[in-house]
Amino acid sequence: MKQRRVALVPTMGYLHEGHLSLARLAAASSDVVIVSIFVNPTQFNNPADLATYPRDLKRDLDLLEKEDFKIVFAPHEDELYAEGFQSWVNVARLTETLEGAHRPGHFQGVATVVSMLFNAVAPDAAVFGEKDFQQLRVIEQLVKDLKFPVEIIRAPIVREDDGLALSSRNVRLSPEERSSALLISKGLFEARALFQKGERNGSKLTAVVHSQLSQSPLIAPEYVELVREDDLTPIAQAAPGARILLAATVGKVRLIDNLSL
Ligand code: PAF
Repeated sequence: MKQRRVALVPTMGYLHEGHLSLARLAAASSDVVIVSIFVNPTQFNNPADLATYPRDLKRDLDLLEKEDFKIVFAPHEDELYAEGFQSWVNVARLTETLEGAHRPGHFQGVATVVSMLFNAVAPDAAVFGEKDFQQLRVIEQLVKDLKFPVEIIRAPIVREDDGLALSSRNVRLSPEERSSALLISKGLFEARALFQKGERNGSKLTAVVHSQLSQSPLIAPEYVELVREDDLTPIAQAAPGARILLAATVGKVRLIDNLSL
């Protein structure tokens, strides 16, 4: 009997067009798509962020049903984290910088839950978005090192027409904060345009992003870094395969974005 290829789309719910694009990409190369929905408490280093993370399972199921995605894995917290849980998965070097440096414990939570999802679902493939670029690299490393028999499929960032990268957190932005948040993608696009004109100096490329972010008092940048895409090490000179990654708080909402140069 021919084996059916199963693709997993791991999510934390409150689905938007970005998640649906991951599911469509999964469907394009697989026979069965399973979408997991689980707000993983161990990857939140900030209790307020976990408490305010938007959730609406009914809405998520309706959105998936409309596109004929019928298989959803939505475990309860104690199904994944049983009483006395004490085993963690850590990816070392790749998690030391960027998000890892600003959100202690975050990637341990991500790597652990993704390992549990892979064990529970046993997919042939799993789709992760480039929006969380460091997370994507961490999962690729995890799969390579621990030899999970899972193909990782990269999905491009989905943006609103005005450039804002889709995120479940965007619903928490006030209209004023949302228009400030546009400076994030504006800065990244400006840096890429400068790179395309020949600028290679990393400080100059990140400076144009900072200069956009500084135009709104509602934005507090956490980091803007030019890194190599493979090992995420910071670089002083941009070359093809370089990417700018950033995190900034807009009002009370923490957003991340990135762009390949
Ligand atoms: O990217 C996410 O939504 C989460 O980090 C993931 C991969 C579903 C793990 O909880």
